[in-house]
Amino acid sequence: MTSAKNYEFINSVLPQWLETSRLQTVHGSTAAYIPELAKAPQEALGIHIMCGNGEHVSAGDCGHVFTLQSISKVFTLILALMDHGEEAIFAKVGMEPTGDDFNSMLKLELVRPGIPFNPFINAGAITISSLIVGDGPEEKSARILEFFRRLAGSDTLDYNMDVYHSESETGHRNRSLAYFLLDNGVLGGSSVEDVLEVYFRHCAIEVTCADLARMGLILAFDGKDPLTGDTLIPRRYVQIAKTFMITCGMYNASGEFAIQAGLPAKSGVSGGILTLVPGQYGIGVVGPALNSKGNSIAGVHLLERLSQELDWSIF
Ligand code: DON
Repeated sequence: MTSAKNYEFINSVLPQWLETSRLQTVHGSTAAYIPELAKAPQEALGIHIMCGNGEHVSAGDCGHVFTLQSISKVFTLILALMDHGEEAIFAKVGMEPTGDDFNSMLKLELVRPGIPFNPFINAGAITISSLIVGDGPEEKSARILEFFRRLAGSDTLDYNMDVYHSESETGHRNRSLAYFLLDNGVLGGSSVEDVLEVYFRHCAIEVTCADLARMGLILAFDGKDPLTGDTLIPRRYVQIAKTFMITCGMYNASGEFAIQAGLPAKSGVSGGILTLVPGQYGIGVVGPALNSKGNSIAGVHLLERLSQELDWSIF
């Protein structure tokens, strides 16, 4: 099926398929370990698919705003790569999936040299936060926000400060991870609280499905914004980010999602999923009810169906 035909087909089936997937939300639950996230509507499900020519189709609760959480890790990794290059970044974080939970500290102690296995687990993303260029947490955070605004094509992207404070006040496990990293010599000269401020802030940047789709579109077109023609990210760094999305983007369900959907994707505990079809679409999904692996239960259901019916798998 050509891309244009695909697009018409998606338009016609999407609302109905979304409602079928929404039925899954009763089997999941919102993240409770960040108290503010537990308030999200359990039954919400929205999707926005954006084409390289700017056309888009959306369905469900697209007006729902949510925080990026772990989805932000894709773009802080890219910014850190743009700041320092590959060699410096991969001296501090590895390239391998862990098989452990996203907030696990097990391997930081068990496996030498004590650097995080990859940039998408919390320990890895906290390390990446320490590597963003800037004079202190405010300047680093401002650079991240500015970069995300450019990728989303939106000057209004901003923090949800309630979520930021909620996580900052309760993020004891991330604090423990950061102290472990400090002890392992991974955080350079940064203090734990400074690094965590940067990390909690970028997790708390608020978006809609349309923003995610727009950011995904840049990745789908190898770093070039197809709507403006501007190159925003070097192709090599998009390639690295997309590879991590396949191997680690859905945490311990990354292998299953690669088999069932076959698309680079990144989820967050707010229920967001950013994914893309190379050369075709950027896609943003939100469904705050999560499955046992921490991914949106209905969002995964909908994306797997779309990919299977439309033959989107990259494999
Ligand atoms: O650090 C945390 O735990 C959250 N700010 C982000 C975790 C997350 O989104 C993991 N996603 N599945």
